[in-house]
Amino acid sequence: MTSLNLAKSLKQKLIQQTLEKKLKKAESEGWKPTPQQTSSSAFNKHCQFDQHPGYKQLQIIKNGAKSLGVPSPFFKIHQGVAGATSIIDDQEVINFASYNYLNLSGHPEVNQAAIDAIHQYGTSVSASRIVSGERPIHQELEAAIAATYEVEDALVYVSGHATNVSTIGYLFGPKDLIIHDEYIHNSSVVGSQLSGAKRIPFAHNDLDALEKILTENRHQFEQVLIVVEGLYSMDGDYPDLARLVDIKQQHHAFLMVDEAHSFGVLGASGKGLREEAHVAGQDVDIWMGTLSKTLSGCGGYIAGSSALIENLRYLSPGFLYSVGLPAPTAAAALASLQIIQKEPQRIQKLKSISQSFIRQAKAMGFNTGDSVGMAVIPIILGSSVKAANASAALLEKGINVQPILYPAVPERSARLRFFLSSEHTEEQIKLTLNTLKTLL
Ligand SMILES: Cc1ncc(COP(=O)(O)O)c(C=O)c1O
Repeated sequence: MTSLNLAKSLKQKLIQQTLEKKLKKAESEGWKPTPQQTSSSAFNKHCQFDQHPGYKQLQIIKNGAKSLGVPSPFFKIHQGVAGATSIIDDQEVINFASYNYLNLSGHPEVNQAAIDAIHQYGTSVSASRIVSGERPIHQELEAAIAATYEVEDALVYVSGHATNVSTIGYLFGPKDLIIHDEYIHNSSVVGSQLSGAKRIPFAHNDLDALEKILTENRHQFEQVLIVVEGLYSMDGDYPDLARLVDIKQQHHAFLMVDEAHSFGVLGASGKGLREEAHVAGQDVDIWMGTLSKTLSGCGGYIAGSSALIENLRYLSPGFLYSVGLPAPTAAAALASLQIIQKEPQRIQKLKSISQSFIRQAKAMGFNTGDSVGMAVIPIILGSSVKAANASAALLEKGINVQPILYPAVPERSARLRFFLSSEHTEEQIKLTLNTLKTLL
């Protein structure tokens, strides 16, 4: 910038600041701008995205991290299938940052199913299934999901997040109450907000707290929904499902379980939390899951009674007004489900490597929080800077693990979050834990 330009821009800044000061003073004395005045340059900050509060906050965090010398852990580029290993920056790394728990994304049979579906149906179904028509693969996938849960029907949406937003947002309204675990995924919170229902979170996995809320509030509302997850993805623990079923029956509430991280992971054959807890499929009113994790596709599902599914199929906006699942994605999810059913040893391998990881981590003195040691294991380091630095240092040593930083978790519980997969080996976890110990 020339000195002339610099002087000009300083002058403009000074004029802007003086104008803003004058404006604030006038407003404090009761003056209100006319619409024409509102559009004057003093209000420019309301029509510039670089003045948006979220963006400004992001810049503060980015600049803070830069000045502390912490590299950004976000948007790393994986150059191949991300499983127990991956390729980042042309280097093969041990990978603990993907939800490919059973290593079915990239599995030859799953790839082939997607390729065959492309040849048969193309890459998109172009519009909503209600107007533009189904493909047999949609119905086969939904029937297979319903059969796995031993419930009447199921429905697949194009996004897991949209599944929760659309289902909760549509089924509940201002006369209703939604009570959820405080660690519930954002998609359920957004769905609850959209519904207009009263929303009350309860302390994580504290079912006494849930009962207290129900006792005090149930009588004031029509429908009541309790929402929990099958396996919490930040902490790797799960709720007492049998007790939840008792509570919901006693208080005449609906129970919804989000199985994004538990389906294909919990239970001897991967049928999720209900198999782990020996609960019948129909004891839970709304089963939700994603197609993006063990089912190695993309999208979400709801499984339950035929009345629930028919209602959602005709009326929930994220299904009715959104495109149907692409056939190759549906085929990949169906092929994954079939492999899970015929190869339960994948779940056993995932369980045994996860148990080994948590046992060794604890023996080394690491804080793994409340994780039960099934696929999701945090190592809590207690500060965002420490977690981000440890993640960057591990990557330099060929180990990819994501740090979870404030505000995703409270600052004191900033962590490294390890996602195990059925193909991780004992050597890989030994090397990882020893490297981390040395680095810390
Ligand atoms: C518990 C939970 N529910 C819902 C979702 C949203 O699923 P998707 O990423 O498939 O849209 C996620 C995503 O990770 C999740 O962890």
